[in-house]
Amino acid sequence: MGKPIKRHPSLVQVSREHHYGLLLSWKIREGLKNNIAPERIKRYTDWFYEKYQKAHFDIEEQFIYPILSSDHPLIVQAIQEHRHIEALFHQEDNLTDMLMALEKAMEAHIRFEERNLFNQIQEVATPEQLQLIEDNHNQPFEDTWEDEFWVRSK
Ligand SMILES: [Fe+2]
Ligand SMILES: [Fe+2]
Repeated sequence: MGKPIKRHPSLVQVSREHHYGLLLSWKIREGLKNNIAPERIKRYTDWFYEKYQKAHFDIEEQFIYPILSSDHPLIVQAIQEHRHIEALFHQEDNLTDMLMALEKAMEAHIRFEERNLFNQIQEVATPEQLQLIEDNHNQPFEDTWEDEFWVRSK
């Protein structure tokens, strides 16, 4: 990761979720490298999406992105990337290609948010807007998935 700019406390939990998103990409890469059946990896990505990714996109789109205007080029890009990533999570065929595209799209989107978008948002956000993010945030993500296909010996 590049030079991290200090995150406002209201954005810390969202940034922590990004860590799990990057971990998802890593797990997919490990799984594919170890010839794990794509169906098995897909069961995890389905769970991850329902349990966490959907809520993460929701909080960003409802309380974080609106801090910049909806026609701001970075917001237009971010929303497009969300729709693309959602479509990949929902894709049911060509699973190996889907997983390869998903891990790349997730990683690129998270790095874009952490290195660029969130810094700009932080600069213009009012204390009330930041408080709203905090008040509406869901429970911290916990990975309880037991089928650890990313562990080499399993
Ligand atoms: Fe996002
Ligand atoms: Fe995000």
